[in-house]
Amino acid sequence: MSASTNLVFPGEAGSMPALGFGTSPMTGGLSADTVAAALKAGYRHIDTARKYGTERAVGEAIRVSGVPRNDIFLTTKVSHENLRAGDFAKSVDESLAALGVDYVDLLLIHWPNPEIALSETMPALAKAKRRGLARHIGVANFNVALLEQAIKLCPEPLAALQAEYHPYLDQSKLLAAVREHKLVFIAYCPLGRGRLFGDPVLAEIAGQRGRSVAQIALRWLLQQNIAAIPFSSKPQRIADNFNVFDFILTDVEMKRIAALKRSDGRVANPAGRVPGGWD
Ligand SMILES: NC(=O)c1ccc[n+]([C@@H]2O[C@H](COP(=O)([O-])OP(=O)(O)OC[C@H]3O[C@@H](n4cnc5c(N)ncnc54)[C@H](OP(=O)(O)O)[C@@H]3O)[C@@H](O)[C@H]2O)c1
Repeated sequence: MSASTNLVFPGEAGSMPALGFGTSPMTGGLSADTVAAALKAGYRHIDTARKYGTERAVGEAIRVSGVPRNDIFLTTKVSHENLRAGDFAKSVDESLAALGVDYVDLLLIHWPNPEIALSETMPALAKAKRRGLARHIGVANFNVALLEQAIKLCPEPLAALQAEYHPYLDQSKLLAAVREHKLVFIAYCPLGRGRLFGDPVLAEIAGQRGRSVAQIALRWLLQQNIAAIPFSSKPQRIADNFNVFDFILTDVEMKRIAALKRSDGRVANPAGRVPGGWD
């Protein structure tokens, strides 16, 4: 299967660039120069969050780049501490102010919070959309049961779910639910936060194709019609990671990569944050 550069939202009007740039650096801060390198390399989908402390750098890079705001798909998130209606609205206002924009393209609940009812949070998320502050809305780090509750409780349709996904993590159940509900799946930690780079199967496929392991891992996601948001602090890698639209993995290669899933594959796992566990 080929992979398109743009993913159409199946449940509502609109689309998003399939390959985005993550902006949560693992150590230290994020400079606007790093985001500028991504925009220069061709990324038009940028993923940030109030929690990352990177919204200001993202906004600055967008302004300096000269790329029109409308050409960029910008995502931010409301942190799990701020899921009560009043806190939620305040967090969205703070995000827009830090980014220096009037709206985001996608607004996500960053993590569920077992202490705060979704019946309070989902209307607050829908309200941000109705106020024109977010073109699309969605959730991150929700399991299947929470996703289904969220959809039922939300007065506006959800467009996307963001969750960890890469060859070491089986996400077949969540992916099936996302497809059933006509959402786009956005894969975070698509490179397994660096864990994939020593993998012999990925290295073999990369070697045969004259590609990097990162390119193979990203292509594997894109060929499933999934969006991916890799991060790198290095301009050369940022550009290389974007160069994944000119080759196609065979069915045999896709299956070999899918077979790499393992029970300890998850890398982002704050204890107890997801009520009921991941599945
Ligand atoms: N919603 C959520 O809860 C959530 C959670 C986690 C992440 N995210 C989002 O997902 C984004 C990506 O996740 P992530 O940054 O944790 O993990 P990742 O993208 O899977 O991996 C990033 C790591 O891979 C390295 N890397 C990148 N390209 C490389 C290449 N071509 N060759 C070798 N090494 C390479 C980077 O190091 P260098 O910098 O040295 O290149 C960095 O250490 C985040 O930035 C954030 O926007 C969302």
